[in-house]
Amino acid sequence: MADWPFQALKFPGVSLPEPTGAPANAAFFSVVTARRLPSHPVDVYNVEAGFHHTGAINNKRLLENVFLFSLKEKSATLWTVSASSPILYGLIGHPVAHSLSPVMMNAAFHALAIDARYGLADAPPGQFVAAAEALRRNGWRGANVTLPHKRAAFRYVHAHGELTDEARILQTVNTLVFHADGTLTGDNTDAQGFCDALRETFRISLCGKRVLILGSGGAGSALALASAFRRVESLQIAARNTGARRRLMSALRHAAPGLPVEDLPLRQAVHVAPACDVIIQTTPVGMKSEDASLLPESAFRTGQWVVDLIYSPPRTPFLEAAARAGARTANGLGMLLHQGARSFHRWTSRKAPLDAMRQALLDALKKKALP
Ligand SMILES: NC(=O)c1ccc[n+]([C@@H]2O[C@H](COP(=O)([O-])OP(=O)(O)OC[C@H]3O[C@@H](n4cnc5c(N)ncnc54)[C@H](OP(=O)(O)O)[C@@H]3O)[C@@H](O)[C@H]2O)c1
Repeated sequence: MADWPFQALKFPGVSLPEPTGAPANAAFFSVVTARRLPSHPVDVYNVEAGFHHTGAINNKRLLENVFLFSLKEKSATLWTVSASSPILYGLIGHPVAHSLSPVMMNAAFHALAIDARYGLADAPPGQFVAAAEALRRNGWRGANVTLPHKRAAFRYVHAHGELTDEARILQTVNTLVFHADGTLTGDNTDAQGFCDALRETFRISLCGKRVLILGSGGAGSALALASAFRRVESLQIAARNTGARRRLMSALRHAAPGLPVEDLPLRQAVHVAPACDVIIQTTPVGMKSEDASLLPESAFRTGQWVVDLIYSPPRTPFLEAAARAGARTANGLGMLLHQGARSFHRWTSRKAPLDAMRQALLDALKKKALP
């Protein structure tokens, strides 16, 4: 049996169907399962394409029905989902336990009465391909991909499926579509989601703007490349990691020859910031209560649009400093919402119910903030 590629596979907040009775050989089932899930015996949901009756469990009889079973204290309980099985989607990443995506996506399915569930697939580094294959084999119809697997997802789709233009430009994939005919599409909705949020919140696009991005990691690089393709007037990348900065510069010069791009150390951002129209903070600085703003108030001015990709806390010291200087500000909730909405549309061909998704996110964040 192949190694189990997940540290955990969960459907948080989703009530499972009523049990229809344990199979005659449940003990055998639990032994098989326990071996595959060595260290997480509690609250792990395993999704198997499987056996179309419960009398004899036989690993070779696949693909008639889907069963969900929960493993608690090494005893398995089997739920038959059978004919009305929900369609399964989820997030592949590591770690993923604190992700708000299930709350947002399950609210969207609920609002449109789509019989689908969105879960969390925690796949440690190096396990992306095994995880994606396992989900695909087991009937999942799509997945989001997050750290540290976005590049691996790009390589996987490049080899086995079709990439959208956006994924090809960003060289990373955050949305997988497992089509019913067995084909595979990889998209990246991060930058599009960011631009949707910019449009919704500020009624602007990046086109013609002088843009400053702080950070050159996954999100910073994606937004830099996306900016280059959205005809910004100029682009500056300020980051502490010289190597990552330089690699991004080289990708940008290759992708958009002739675009005025410049990289600089993070500590010099304060000098160029006042001349920029749009400033995007893409580092995790501000997530911890003791974090200070990466830029002082003097770096901002009225007439600027300032976005911090962090959404928890909702107002970072960075956004506070920008607001004090008179800039218009937004946190990362809009990007989270809109990248999710675009994934949702890719999977279902339905317009995402933004209000229900936003409310679910706000409720979850409020709950998280409670002591
Ligand atoms: N709202 C959304 O939908 C959304 C989407 C994606 C990401 N995000 C947020 O954006 C942030 C970055 O995510 P990511 O995926 O880009 O992470 P990442 O790939 O790990 O990149 C993080 C970047 O921040 C820099 N950084 C980290 N700590 C720093 C510090 N103390 N001082 C200065 N720079 C620092 C890193 O520099 P080094 O290379 O030197 O480490 C790197 O450039 C996270 O807070 C994430 O939650 C939000």
